[in-house]
Amino acid sequence: MRDPCTELDVLLAPVGQALLAELIGLELTPETELALARRLRAVYPADLVTAALSMHELRQRARPKFTRADRMYLTRDGLEQASAEPLARHRAARLAGVGKIADLCCGIGGDLVALAGGSEPASEVLAVDRDPIHLRMAVLNACVYEVGEAVRTVCVDVRSVDLVGVDVVFVDPARRIGSRRLATGPSEPPLSWCIELAERVGVVVKAAPGIDRDRVPAGWEVEFVSAGRELKEAVLWSPAFVGAPGVTSRASVLPSGEQLRAVPGEPVECRAPGAYLLDPNPAVTRAGLVEDLARGLGAWKIDPMIAFLSSDRPLRSPFARTLRVLDSGPWREKELASRLRSLGVGSVEIRRRGLAGDVDTLRRRLRLPPGQPATLVMTRVADRPWALICVDA
Ligand SMILES: C[S@@+](CC[C@H](N)C(=O)[O-])C[C@H]1O[C@@H](n2cnc3c(N)ncnc32)[C@H](O)[C@@H]1O
Repeated sequence: MRDPCTELDVLLAPVGQALLAELIGLELTPETELALARRLRAVYPADLVTAALSMHELRQRARPKFTRADRMYLTRDGLEQASAEPLARHRAARLAGVGKIADLCCGIGGDLVALAGGSEPASEVLAVDRDPIHLRMAVLNACVYEVGEAVRTVCVDVRSVDLVGVDVVFVDPARRIGSRRLATGPSEPPLSWCIELAERVGVVVKAAPGIDRDRVPAGWEVEFVSAGRELKEAVLWSPAFVGAPGVTSRASVLPSGEQLRAVPGEPVECRAPGAYLLDPNPAVTRAGLVEDLARGLGAWKIDPMIAFLSSDRPLRSPFARTLRVLDSGPWREKELASRLRSLGVGSVEIRRRGLAGDVDTLRRRLRLPPGQPATLVMTRVADRPWALICVDA
Protein backbone atom coordinates (compact mmCIF):
# COMPACT_ATOMS: atom_id res chain seq x y z
CA MET A 1 0.00 0.00 0.00
CA ARG A 2 2.30 2.82 -1.17
CA ASP A 3 -0.27 5.23 -2.56
CA PRO A 4 -0.35 7.95 0.13
CA CYS A 5 -4.01 8.67 -0.53
CA THR A 6 -5.02 5.04 0.04
CA GLU A 7 -2.75 4.85 3.07
CA LEU A 8 -4.47 7.84 4.63
CA ASP A 9 -7.92 6.41 3.84
CA VAL A 10 -7.00 3.14 5.53
CA LEU A 11 -5.70 4.94 8.61
CA LEU A 12 -8.89 6.97 8.83
CA ALA A 13 -11.16 3.91 8.58
CA PRO A 14 -12.41 2.59 11.97
CA VAL A 15 -9.88 -0.25 12.11
CA GLY A 16 -7.03 2.19 11.30
CA GLN A 17 -8.23 4.57 13.99
CA ALA A 18 -8.35 1.72 16.50
CA LEU A 19 -4.77 0.78 15.69
CA LEU A 20 -3.48 4.37 15.82
CA ALA A 21 -5.24 4.82 19.17
CA GLU A 22 -3.35 1.77 20.51
CA LEU A 23 -0.07 3.42 19.54
CA ILE A 24 -0.70 6.89 21.02
CA GLY A 25 1.94 7.82 23.57
CA LEU A 26 4.15 4.76 22.94
CA GLU A 27 7.90 5.48 22.83
CA LEU A 28 9.14 3.05 20.21
CA THR A 29 12.74 2.19 19.40
CA PRO A 30 13.65 0.13 16.30
CA GLU A 31 13.87 -2.98 18.52
CA THR A 32 10.58 -2.50 20.38
CA GLU A 33 8.89 -1.54 17.11
CA LEU A 34 9.90 -4.82 15.50
CA ALA A 35 8.44 -6.87 18.34
CA LEU A 36 5.30 -4.75 18.39
CA ALA A 37 4.86 -5.05 14.60
CA ARG A 38 4.98 -8.84 14.91
CA ARG A 39 2.32 -8.80 17.62
CA LEU A 40 0.09 -6.35 15.72
CA ARG A 41 0.28 -8.31 12.46
CA ALA A 42 -1.44 -11.18 14.24
CA VAL A 43 -4.46 -8.91 14.74
CA TYR A 44 -4.40 -6.29 11.93
CA PRO A 45 -3.66 -6.47 8.16
CA ALA A 46 0.09 -6.21 7.51
CA ASP A 47 -0.27 -3.13 5.24
CA LEU A 48 -2.22 -1.29 7.88
CA VAL A 49 0.37 -2.11 10.55
CA THR A 50 3.14 -0.74 8.32
CA ALA A 51 1.19 2.46 7.58
CA ALA A 52 0.23 2.98 11.23
CA LEU A 53 3.76 2.41 12.53
CA SER A 54 5.18 4.83 10.01
CA MET A 55 2.59 7.47 10.99
CA HIS A 56 3.42 6.80 14.63
CA GLU A 57 7.12 7.32 13.92
CA LEU A 58 6.35 10.69 12.33
CA ARG A 59 4.17 11.62 15.29
CA GLN A 60 7.05 10.82 17.64
CA ARG A 61 9.35 13.01 15.55
CA ALA A 62 6.80 15.79 15.54
CA ARG A 63 6.70 16.09 19.34
CA PRO A 64 9.30 18.87 19.56
CA LYS A 65 7.22 20.91 17.09
CA PHE A 66 3.63 20.24 18.15
CA THR A 67 1.93 19.75 21.51
CA ARG A 68 -0.71 17.53 19.89
CA ALA A 69 1.74 15.62 17.68
CA ASP A 70 0.46 12.26 18.88
CA ARG A 71 -2.84 12.76 17.08
CA MET A 72 -1.71 14.62 13.97
CA TYR A 73 -1.47 13.36 10.38
CA LEU A 74 1.90 13.91 8.76
CA THR A 75 4.09 13.15 5.79
CA ARG A 76 7.86 13.18 6.27
CA ASP A 77 8.24 16.09 3.90
CA GLY A 78 5.26 17.96 5.35
CA LEU A 79 6.59 17.60 8.89
CA GLU A 80 10.08 18.75 7.99
CA GLN A 81 8.73 21.89 6.35
CA ALA A 82 6.01 22.60 8.92
CA SER A 83 6.26 25.61 11.23
CA ALA A 84 6.69 24.64 14.87
CA GLU A 85 3.77 25.63 17.07
CA PRO A 86 5.47 28.48 19.02
CA LEU A 87 6.70 30.14 15.82
CA ALA A 88 3.35 29.78 14.06
CA ARG A 89 1.52 31.15 17.12
CA HIS A 90 3.89 34.09 17.38
CA ARG A 91 3.19 35.10 13.76
CA ALA A 92 -0.54 34.44 13.99
CA ALA A 93 -0.84 36.64 17.09
CA ARG A 94 0.02 39.68 14.99
CA LEU A 95 -2.75 38.74 12.56
CA ALA A 96 -5.51 38.36 15.15
CA GLY A 97 -8.64 40.16 14.03
CA VAL A 98 -7.39 41.10 10.52
CA GLY A 99 -10.36 39.51 8.74
CA LYS A 100 -10.33 36.61 6.32
CA ILE A 101 -6.92 34.99 5.91
CA ALA A 102 -5.69 32.74 3.10
CA ASP A 103 -2.93 30.32 4.07
CA LEU A 104 -1.20 29.75 0.72
CA CYS A 105 0.99 26.63 0.64
CA CYS A 106 -0.57 25.39 3.87
CA GLY A 107 1.29 22.04 3.88
CA ILE A 108 0.17 19.77 6.72
CA GLY A 109 -1.23 22.82 8.51
CA GLY A 110 1.40 23.90 11.04
CA ASP A 111 0.56 27.53 10.40
CA LEU A 112 -3.06 26.87 9.60
CA VAL A 113 -3.95 25.73 13.13
CA ALA A 114 -2.34 28.86 14.59
CA LEU A 115 -3.96 31.19 12.04
CA ALA A 116 -7.42 29.72 12.57
CA GLY A 117 -7.00 29.63 16.35
CA GLY A 118 -5.51 33.11 16.60
CA SER A 119 -8.83 34.81 17.36
CA GLU A 120 -11.85 34.00 19.47
CA PRO A 121 -14.04 32.75 17.80
CA ALA A 122 -11.65 31.09 15.32
CA SER A 123 -11.04 33.24 12.22
CA GLU A 124 -12.07 31.85 8.85
CA VAL A 125 -9.01 30.67 6.94
CA LEU A 126 -8.81 29.55 3.33
CA ALA A 127 -6.20 26.78 3.15
CA VAL A 128 -4.57 26.27 -0.25
CA ASP A 129 -2.06 23.65 -1.36
CA ARG A 130 -1.61 21.79 -4.60
CA ASP A 131 -0.69 18.59 -2.78
CA PRO A 132 -4.01 16.84 -2.01
CA ILE A 133 -2.53 14.74 0.81
CA HIS A 134 -1.07 17.75 2.56
CA LEU A 135 -4.36 19.59 2.21
CA ARG A 136 -6.34 16.70 3.69
CA MET A 137 -3.86 16.40 6.53
CA ALA A 138 -4.06 20.16 7.15
CA VAL A 139 -7.81 19.86 7.72
CA LEU A 140 -7.43 16.78 9.92
CA ASN A 141 -4.80 18.60 11.98
CA ALA A 142 -7.01 21.67 12.25
CA CYS A 143 -9.63 19.30 13.75
CA VAL A 144 -7.03 17.92 16.18
CA TYR A 145 -6.57 21.52 17.36
CA GLU A 146 -10.36 22.05 17.39
CA VAL A 147 -10.37 24.76 14.74
CA GLY A 148 -11.45 22.61 11.79
CA GLU A 149 -14.82 24.38 11.45
CA ALA A 150 -13.07 27.60 10.51
CA VAL A 151 -11.12 26.06 7.62
CA ARG A 152 -12.10 26.05 3.94
CA THR A 153 -9.84 24.35 1.41
CA VAL A 154 -8.86 24.64 -2.24
CA CYS A 155 -6.50 22.18 -3.89
CA VAL A 156 -4.84 24.22 -6.65
CA ASP A 157 -1.63 25.95 -7.56
CA VAL A 158 -1.69 29.07 -5.38
CA ARG A 159 -1.10 31.19 -8.49
CA SER A 160 -4.60 30.43 -9.67
CA VAL A 161 -6.54 30.80 -6.42
CA ASP A 162 -9.36 33.34 -6.28
CA LEU A 163 -8.54 35.83 -3.52
CA VAL A 164 -11.80 37.80 -3.67
CA GLY A 165 -12.96 38.52 -0.11
CA VAL A 166 -9.54 37.67 1.37
CA ASP A 167 -7.99 40.42 3.52
CA VAL A 168 -4.58 38.91 4.20
CA VAL A 169 -2.51 36.15 2.68
CA PHE A 170 0.10 34.22 4.59
CA VAL A 171 2.54 32.39 2.29
CA ASP A 172 5.06 29.77 3.33
CA PRO A 173 6.59 28.81 -0.01
CA ALA A 174 8.29 25.44 -0.39
CA ARG A 175 12.04 25.70 -0.04
CA ARG A 176 12.64 22.17 -1.29
CA ILE A 177 11.61 20.07 -4.24
CA GLY A 178 10.98 16.47 -3.18
CA SER A 179 13.81 15.68 -0.80
CA ARG A 180 16.11 18.32 -2.33
CA ARG A 181 16.46 21.47 -0.24
CA LEU A 182 16.69 24.62 -2.38
CA ALA A 183 19.54 27.03 -1.69
CA THR A 184 18.57 30.17 0.26
CA GLY A 185 16.75 32.32 -2.26
CA PRO A 186 14.77 30.16 -4.68
CA SER A 187 11.38 28.99 -3.49
CA GLU A 188 8.18 27.62 -4.97
CA PRO A 189 6.29 29.82 -5.64
CA PRO A 190 9.09 32.40 -6.00
CA LEU A 191 9.45 35.25 -3.52
CA SER A 192 8.85 37.81 -6.29
CA TRP A 193 5.37 36.32 -6.86
CA CYS A 194 4.60 36.44 -3.12
CA ILE A 195 5.69 40.08 -2.94
CA GLU A 196 3.56 41.11 -5.92
CA LEU A 197 0.47 39.88 -4.06
CA ALA A 198 0.78 42.99 -1.88
CA GLU A 199 -0.70 45.01 -4.76
CA ARG A 200 -4.02 43.24 -3.96
CA VAL A 201 -3.98 42.26 -0.24
CA GLY A 202 -1.92 42.43 2.95
CA VAL A 203 0.89 39.86 2.68
CA VAL A 204 3.00 37.96 5.18
CA VAL A 205 5.75 35.68 3.85
CA LYS A 206 7.74 33.17 5.87
CA ALA A 207 11.33 33.02 4.57
CA ALA A 208 14.69 31.52 5.47
CA PRO A 209 16.64 33.55 8.06
CA GLY A 210 19.49 33.89 5.57
CA ILE A 211 17.30 35.85 3.13
CA ASP A 212 19.08 38.49 1.08
CA ARG A 213 17.51 41.74 2.29
CA ASP A 214 18.00 43.33 -1.11
CA ARG A 215 15.19 41.08 -2.32
CA VAL A 216 12.72 42.72 0.07
CA PRO A 217 11.16 45.91 -1.34
CA ALA A 218 11.27 49.26 0.45
CA GLY A 219 8.41 49.76 2.89
CA TRP A 220 8.29 46.10 3.97
CA GLU A 221 9.36 44.97 7.44
CA VAL A 222 11.65 42.00 7.96
CA GLU A 223 11.21 40.29 11.31
CA PHE A 224 13.91 37.86 12.44
CA VAL A 225 12.70 35.31 14.95
CA SER A 226 14.82 33.15 17.21
CA ALA A 227 13.91 30.44 19.69
CA GLY A 228 16.29 31.06 22.54
CA ARG A 229 19.59 31.82 20.80
CA GLU A 230 18.77 29.83 17.68
CA LEU A 231 17.77 31.94 14.69
CA LYS A 232 14.76 30.26 13.11
CA GLU A 233 13.17 32.35 10.41
CA ALA A 234 12.57 35.67 8.72
CA VAL A 235 9.03 36.96 8.28
CA LEU A 236 8.31 39.58 5.65
CA TRP A 237 5.42 41.91 6.46
CA SER A 238 3.95 43.97 3.61
CA PRO A 239 3.53 47.75 4.12
CA ALA A 240 -0.06 47.24 5.36
CA PHE A 241 1.40 45.81 8.60
CA VAL A 242 4.24 48.23 9.14
CA GLY A 243 3.24 50.64 11.92
CA ALA A 244 5.68 53.53 11.69
CA PRO A 245 7.17 54.52 8.34
CA GLY A 246 10.83 53.60 8.08
CA VAL A 247 10.58 50.80 10.68
CA THR A 248 11.89 47.98 8.54
CA SER A 249 13.42 45.56 11.06
CA ARG A 250 12.25 43.69 14.09
CA ALA A 251 13.92 41.06 16.24
CA SER A 252 11.69 38.68 18.18
CA VAL A 253 12.87 36.18 20.75
CA LEU A 254 10.76 33.18 21.71
CA PRO A 255 9.43 31.76 23.95
CA SER A 256 8.71 35.14 25.58
CA GLY A 257 7.92 36.74 22.21
CA GLU A 258 9.65 39.98 23.25
CA GLN A 259 10.36 42.24 20.32
CA LEU A 260 13.03 44.80 19.57
CA ARG A 261 12.56 47.54 17.02
CA ALA A 262 14.60 50.55 15.99
CA VAL A 263 15.50 52.87 18.89
CA PRO A 264 16.20 56.28 17.31
CA GLY A 265 19.12 58.29 18.68
CA GLU A 266 22.75 59.23 18.34
CA PRO A 267 25.33 56.76 17.02
CA VAL A 268 26.60 54.51 19.82
CA GLU A 269 30.14 55.25 21.02
CA CYS A 270 32.98 52.71 20.89
CA ARG A 271 35.06 52.14 24.04
CA ALA A 272 37.31 49.49 25.53
CA PRO A 273 35.43 46.57 27.14
CA GLY A 274 34.09 47.26 30.64
CA ALA A 275 33.20 44.78 33.38
CA TYR A 276 30.48 43.09 31.31
CA LEU A 277 30.19 41.92 27.71
CA LEU A 278 26.83 41.55 25.99
CA ASP A 279 26.47 39.03 23.19
CA PRO A 280 23.35 40.06 21.22
CA ASN A 281 20.82 37.43 20.20
CA PRO A 282 21.28 36.37 16.54
CA ALA A 283 17.83 37.77 15.74
CA VAL A 284 19.15 41.19 16.82
CA THR A 285 22.36 41.00 14.80
CA ARG A 286 20.52 39.68 11.75
CA ALA A 287 17.95 42.47 12.02
CA GLY A 288 20.77 45.05 12.18
CA LEU A 289 19.53 46.29 15.56
CA VAL A 290 22.72 46.03 17.62
CA GLU A 291 23.09 49.81 17.98
CA ASP A 292 19.40 50.06 18.84
CA LEU A 293 19.86 47.48 21.57
CA ALA A 294 22.87 49.43 22.88
CA ARG A 295 20.86 52.67 22.97
CA GLY A 296 17.98 51.00 24.78
CA LEU A 297 20.29 49.48 27.40
CA GLY A 298 22.84 52.28 27.73
CA ALA A 299 25.68 50.01 26.59
CA TRP A 300 28.60 50.82 24.28
CA LYS A 301 30.28 49.08 21.37
CA ILE A 302 33.81 47.69 21.60
CA ASP A 303 34.53 48.16 17.90
CA PRO A 304 32.76 49.94 15.05
CA MET A 305 32.30 46.70 13.09
CA ILE A 306 31.77 44.12 15.86
CA ALA A 307 28.41 43.17 17.32
CA PHE A 308 29.51 42.79 20.96
CA LEU A 309 28.39 45.42 23.43
CA SER A 310 29.80 46.28 26.82
CA SER A 311 28.89 47.98 30.08
CA ASP A 312 30.14 48.37 33.64
CA ARG A 313 26.83 47.19 35.07
CA PRO A 314 25.34 43.68 34.78
CA LEU A 315 22.64 44.67 32.27
CA ARG A 316 19.85 42.15 31.69
CA SER A 317 18.02 41.85 28.40
CA PRO A 318 16.02 39.16 26.59
CA PHE A 319 17.97 40.26 23.50
CA ALA A 320 21.48 39.50 24.72
CA ARG A 321 23.48 37.12 26.84
CA THR A 322 25.39 38.95 29.58
CA LEU A 323 28.89 37.78 30.41
CA ARG A 324 31.13 38.95 33.28
CA VAL A 325 34.60 39.80 32.01
CA LEU A 326 37.39 38.13 34.03
CA ASP A 327 40.22 39.15 31.74
CA SER A 328 40.49 41.38 28.67
CA GLY A 329 43.54 42.10 26.55
CA PRO A 330 45.12 42.02 23.10
CA TRP A 331 45.06 38.63 21.39
CA ARG A 332 48.32 36.81 22.18
CA GLU A 333 47.72 33.15 21.58
CA LYS A 334 50.93 32.02 23.31
CA GLU A 335 49.82 33.63 26.59
CA LEU A 336 46.25 32.40 26.48
CA ALA A 337 46.71 29.06 28.23
CA SER A 338 48.53 30.62 31.17
CA ARG A 339 45.94 33.41 31.44
CA LEU A 340 43.16 30.81 31.55
CA ARG A 341 45.00 28.61 34.07
CA SER A 342 45.64 31.52 36.39
CA LEU A 343 41.88 32.13 36.45
CA GLY A 344 41.17 28.48 37.27
CA VAL A 345 39.49 27.88 33.91
CA GLY A 346 39.31 24.21 32.90
CA SER A 347 37.11 24.30 29.80
CA VAL A 348 36.18 26.98 27.31
CA GLU A 349 33.33 27.69 24.97
CA ILE A 350 34.98 29.72 22.21
CA ARG A 351 32.98 32.61 20.76
CA ARG A 352 34.59 34.07 17.65
CA ARG A 353 33.50 37.29 16.00
CA GLY A 354 35.67 39.32 13.64
CA LEU A 355 38.84 37.27 14.18
CA ALA A 356 39.95 34.39 11.97
CA GLY A 357 41.17 31.14 13.50
CA ASP A 358 40.29 27.50 13.88
CA VAL A 359 38.39 27.11 17.11
CA ASP A 360 38.90 23.33 17.46
CA THR A 361 42.66 23.54 16.91
CA LEU A 362 42.87 26.35 19.44
CA ARG A 363 40.88 24.41 22.05
CA ARG A 364 43.14 21.38 21.58
CA ARG A 365 46.27 23.47 21.93
CA LEU A 366 45.12 25.03 25.19
CA ARG A 367 45.25 21.68 27.06
CA LEU A 368 43.64 23.02 30.23
CA PRO A 369 43.65 21.19 33.58
CA PRO A 370 40.27 20.60 35.30
CA GLY A 371 38.67 23.85 36.41
CA GLN A 372 35.66 26.15 36.00
CA PRO A 373 33.95 26.58 32.59
CA ALA A 374 34.39 29.93 30.85
CA THR A 375 33.74 31.64 27.53
CA LEU A 376 36.76 32.68 25.52
CA VAL A 377 35.80 35.52 23.19
CA MET A 378 38.00 36.00 20.12
CA THR A 379 37.19 39.36 18.63
CA ARG A 380 38.43 42.84 17.76
CA VAL A 381 38.55 45.92 19.94
CA ALA A 382 39.15 49.21 18.09
CA ASP A 383 40.18 46.99 15.17
CA ARG A 384 42.87 45.15 17.18
CA PRO A 385 42.65 41.36 17.67
CA TRP A 386 41.44 40.87 21.26
CA ALA A 387 40.73 38.11 23.78
CA LEU A 388 38.20 38.25 26.59
CA ILE A 389 37.79 35.54 29.19
CA CYS A 390 34.26 35.63 30.56
CA VAL A 391 31.75 33.73 32.65
CA ASP A 392 27.96 33.92 32.62
CA ALA A 393 26.86 36.90 34.70
C1 LIG B 1 6.87 24.96 3.43
S1 LIG B 1 5.48 23.93 3.12
C2 LIG B 1 4.26 24.74 4.04
C3 LIG B 1 4.34 24.44 5.51
C4 LIG B 1 3.19 24.97 6.31
N1 LIG B 1 3.23 26.39 6.46
C5 LIG B 1 3.17 24.32 7.69
O1 LIG B 1 3.47 24.99 8.68
O2 LIG B 1 2.82 23.12 7.75
C6 LIG B 1 5.17 24.31 1.49
C7 LIG B 1 3.93 23.70 0.82
O3 LIG B 1 3.75 24.42 -0.38
C8 LIG B 1 3.11 23.60 -1.33
N2 LIG B 1 3.34 24.26 -2.63
C9 LIG B 1 4.50 24.55 -3.23
N3 LIG B 1 4.29 25.22 -4.38
C10 LIG B 1 2.95 25.37 -4.48
C11 LIG B 1 2.11 26.00 -5.43
N4 LIG B 1 2.63 26.60 -6.50
N5 LIG B 1 0.79 25.98 -5.22
C12 LIG B 1 0.26 25.35 -4.15
N6 LIG B 1 1.01 24.75 -3.21
C13 LIG B 1 2.33 24.76 -3.37
C14 LIG B 1 3.77 22.27 -1.13
O4 LIG B 1 2.90 21.25 -1.58
C15 LIG B 1 3.97 22.25 0.41
O5 LIG B 1 2.92 21.55 1.03
